[in-house]
Parts: sequence; structure tokens; C-alpha cells
Amino acid sequence: MALRSIIRSVSHYVPERRVTNDDLSKCMDTNDAWITERTGIKERRFIEHEGVSTSQLGEIAARGALKLAGWAPEDLDLIVVATLSPDYYFPGVGVMLQQRLGCRTIPALDIRAQCSGLVYGLSCVDGYVKSRQASKILLVCAEVQSPVLDLTTRGREMSVLFGDGAGALTIEGCEVAHDGDLSQRGIIDSYLGSDGSGADVLCMKAPGTAIPGFLRPSDLEQGLVHPQMEGKVVFKNAVTRLLESANVLMTRNKVSAEQIDLIVPHQANLRINEMVRQQLGVAPERVFNNIQRYGNTTAATIPICLSEAQQQGVLKEGALVMTLAFGAGFTWGGNLIRW
Ligand code: ACO
Repeated sequence: MALRSIIRSVSHYVPERRVTNDDLSKCMDTNDAWITERTGIKERRFIEHEGVSTSQLGEIAARGALKLAGWAPEDLDLIVVATLSPDYYFPGVGVMLQQRLGCRTIPALDIRAQCSGLVYGLSCVDGYVKSRQASKILLVCAEVQSPVLDLTTRGREMSVLFGDGAGALTIEGCEVAHDGDLSQRGIIDSYLGSDGSGADVLCMKAPGTAIPGFLRPSDLEQGLVHPQMEGKVVFKNAVTRLLESANVLMTRNKVSAEQIDLIVPHQANLRINEMVRQQLGVAPERVFNNIQRYGNTTAATIPICLSEAQQQGVLKEGALVMTLAFGAGFTWGGNLIRW
């Protein structure tokens, strides 16, 4: 007998406030044609007012996932949260959710893997399950990014890409006959990578301990309190690492691209996902994208996709799913899951 981490439910929440490309063109020198052509994004969601926190969005998604699983907060053994936009510098969002949901005094931890938050999160959860440290786990991926975006022409390359949102999954450890069995439900395999030489290519430096004084007036003036990116370098690395992740997962598990029912990639740029799809040689209907409506919600993109795919009937129990992610760090990876 072996243990498998079975995904019991997935849910998501996005704020009501839609911000279209035309809306952004009113506060910066950009336009709908540029954003649509370069990224695929038509609109994104922003929190309705200042002060709506990441844990608030995460709580709504988490309650949705708990309800679908038929679990109460007190059933949980562990909370794992992936975010780059925490409520506070410290403590993390995990403990905020422990309190908001009214869980027992279970462990709660935060993962800092940016857009790879879901794939790192599932790998982490799987480790807790297999080492028998937790059995009923809540994984929340949530971001409130709009308050730190530079919504002026100076920040346009970055700020048109991002949105706010949250996704949550419940995961349960279950005994299965054979660990290597591809037909059994659950997380089959995870592949993760990182390369810190890319840290300065995509980052938000201030406030931070690498800055003398932690936060200086000059950091505000120079825009170091906003995310920075060398877009073309990130783009090329993303395509390479997403393909690497897919190929490792397929080779290691002796699965061909045709055998995968649904690929759910991170939503950073529709052109990135289209290049990956073409290289893998899979049909468009077997890759799930929704960046057109939400932009890049960082850690939350993949769980929002999984939740919508399930709601739309595209993702059914028993399907073979591959998640793929690439993000700041650089970090990347994927999970192979029998849904
Ligand atoms: N509106 C209008 N024009 C713009 C905008 C904008 N919002 N942003 C940039 N431009 C201009 C540039 O200034 C440039 O002008 P120039 O030719 O006069 O110099 C021109 O448009 C072309 O810019 P490029 O950099 O060539 O555009 P590119 O095709 O590379 O697209 C983009 C830029 C969309 C950012 C792309 O590089 C990209 O998607 N990169 C990867 C993003 C990503 O994967 N992020 C990872 C996840 S994020 C995370 O982990 C937190």
C-alpha cells in the first residue's frame, strides 16, 4: 500500500471590479490593441477598494473549496498558502487564514515561489501527506497585486499584466494499492526547479533588507516599490522552463502528450502558452487559458483555471492533468495529477 494526495475540491474567487484595457489607457500611455496583441489580456479584476487584503480573497476561495469537499474548518490538519502579496510583511497569510476560518491550532505556512506557487504548493502538500504528517490539507493561492502596480506610463510594461484573485484546493491523503499507478486518482508526480541568477530580472526590491535603511524616499521616487521586469528575458526563460517541466514529467512517468487530457499552464502571456502548446503538439482545446479575463494573478492563476475548467465541464474526475508554471526567482515546475 502507498499514500496518494487526492484533490477533493477546487474553488476560486475574483473581485467584482473589472478593469479593461481601455480603462488602463486612461491612466497611462497604452491601448487595447497593444495589450491584446502582446499578451492576450482584455481585462483583469482589481479589489473594489484599498484595504481589501489577500487573506480576505483567500478566505472566500477557501470556504468555497471546503464547502465543495464537505469539510468543516476544524477537519483540517494543515494550511499552506502561496502568495507574493501578503497582508503583512510578517506574519504570513497562512496564520491569517487559520484565524479567519476558525481552524484548530494546526500548522500554517507560506510559500514564496511567486507564479510557481501552486506547483510548489502541491509538491509541498504531497510531501506532508506521504510523510504522514497531515491528511486533510487546505492549499490557498491568493494575490492582491493592484495596490503595488505602477499605473503610470513608467510602469506600463508590468502593470498591464497583473490582476487580483484567489484559488483554493482541498487535498486528502488516501491509501492506494501501488504508488506508481497512473490510473489511481491523486498527485502522481511533481517537478520543481529554480535559478536565482534570474532574481533581479523580475522582482520588487523595496522594502527589503538588501536596501540600506530598509525603505528610503529615493526607493519610492525610483519606483523600487513597484514590480520590475525585463520582459523579453522572462519570456524566453518561461518558454524554455515550461517545456522542460512538461518533458521531465512526461518522460519520468512514461506518458505522451496525447495521453494528457488537460494542460493547465500559468497565465502570464497567451503567446507563451501558445508556443508551449505548439512545441508539445497538443490541440488548443486541451490547454486551458483564461488570461483574457483575469490577467496574471500570479500564484492564483492555475487554481482559478482548474476551478473554472471543472465548472465548465472541461475537467472531469479521472482526467489526466498537467500543471505547468514559471515565475519570479526564477522558479518553475509542474504537477501530473489524475483528477
Ligand atoms: N502599452 C503600450 N506599449 C508598451 C507597453 C504597454 N503596456 N509596454 C511596453 N510598451 C512598449 C515598449 O516601451 C516598447 O516600445 P519601443 O519599441 O518604442 O521601445 C514596445 O512596446 C515593445 O515592447 P517589447 O518589450 O518588445 O514587448 P514584448 O513583445 O516583449 O512584450 C511583455 C512585453 C508582454 C511584457 C512580454 O515581454 C512578456 O510577457 N514577458 C513575460 C512576462 C512573464 O512571463 N512574467 C512571468 C510571471 S510574473 C511573476 O512571476 C510575478
